Amino acid sequence: MNQTIAKWAVNGKRLWRRAVFILVGNVVQEKRKRLLVTGASGFLGWHACFFGRDSWRVFGVVHDHRIEMEGVCVVRADLTRPTQVKRLVQETAPDAVLHLAAASQPNLCQLEPEKTRRINVDASLTLAGLASEGSIPYVFTSSDLVFDGRKAPYREEDPVSPVSAYGEQKAQAEVGILDCHPDAIICRMPLLFGDPRSTSQNILQSMIGKLKEGGELRLFTDEYRTPLSVRDAVRGLFLALEKARGLLHLGGRERISRYDFGRLVVEILGQGDARLVPCLQKDVPMAAARPPDVSLDSSRAFALGFTPRVLRNELKHLLEGYSFPSQRKR
Ligand SMILES: NC(=O)c1ccc[n+]([C@@H]2O[C@H](COP(=O)([O-])OP(=O)(O)OC[C@H]3O[C@@H](n4cnc5c(N)ncnc54)[C@H](OP(=O)(O)O)[C@@H]3O)[C@@H](O)[C@H]2O)c1
Repeated sequence: MNQTIAKWAVNGKRLWRRAVFILVGNVVQEKRKRLLVTGASGFLGWHACFFGRDSWRVFGVVHDHRIEMEGVCVVRADLTRPTQVKRLVQETAPDAVLHLAAASQPNLCQLEPEKTRRINVDASLTLAGLASEGSIPYVFTSSDLVFDGRKAPYREEDPVSPVSAYGEQKAQAEVGILDCHPDAIICRMPLLFGDPRSTSQNILQSMIGKLKEGGELRLFTDEYRTPLSVRDAVRGLFLALEKARGLLHLGGRERISRYDFGRLVVEILGQGDARLVPCLQKDVPMAAARPPDVSLDSSRAFALGFTPRVLRNELKHLLEGYSFPSQRKR
């Protein structure tokens, strides 16, 4: 009998402690500022939710795909429908917005300019208008592809000169957003890469996918970017939210061709570059035209405290422990 009472007492204490823990957790959650992240099911948005949830009460917006993330409230909305956007802002009452949802594939934008314009331009402006009405800080992700690639490295004040529908849509969104929300923050992002095991499409994942299948990698020697890892990109976005206003370039520190990026990857993987095939942009016809060099000069962001990691070190970190089937020990 005494033993049973003792057990009840222990369990009761545990339950009580758990209840207090949940209660404190909820109070902390309630006290946190509210952050609306669109594109939460996408590559950058997922990482932004993951990073932001430690200090914000995060509402992650998805559309066709579902995600689950502890500490993040996932909401579904079609941002091309203004009524849904309005309801979303009313119901989540954000203190800040990271608008990362987009039709992010240049070839798709070229083939379906009207449809993709609705998310890339119209939705971005609707959300910016609502943020402006509520004096809510608003971060929009634009792209290095607003430039034609003939005068790199590009600074924020350089005139835009897009050569594709995607670049055109981003450039139009930038102007429209700053027109209706002059305090908005427009981050021009470079080529992003991240965990090759992730399901989100990114350059590293597609390169490794091809290598794993035993295929060859045809990579441009005449296309230059300033690539950035997605975790550095997210740190840059939160820094921009805190410290910037207007246009901000969030490029990596190194300018590199796609081919040399591939060489670095196979070198780190110990694969040798036998399966790398150098090629030129003109050898691979695509729907969307590709600028030759859209490297970003990000000194303004660096001066604010943006410190992207060294490319080789970041790739080593992402590819650590990665092995191809033939390399596994038997
Ligand atoms: N990745 C890069 O290398 C790169 C480079 C430069 C700039 N950027 C920019 O960075 C941002 C994020 O890019 P990303 O690579 O993360 O894109 P992504 O992986 O293609 O994700 C796109 C996101 O947008 C959402 N979305 C699309 N249409 C929507 C709609 N009608 N309503 C609500 N949500 C919608 C998608 O939701 P569902 O999947 O649920 O439908 C998805 O979460 C974009 O603005 C992109 O243009 C990216």
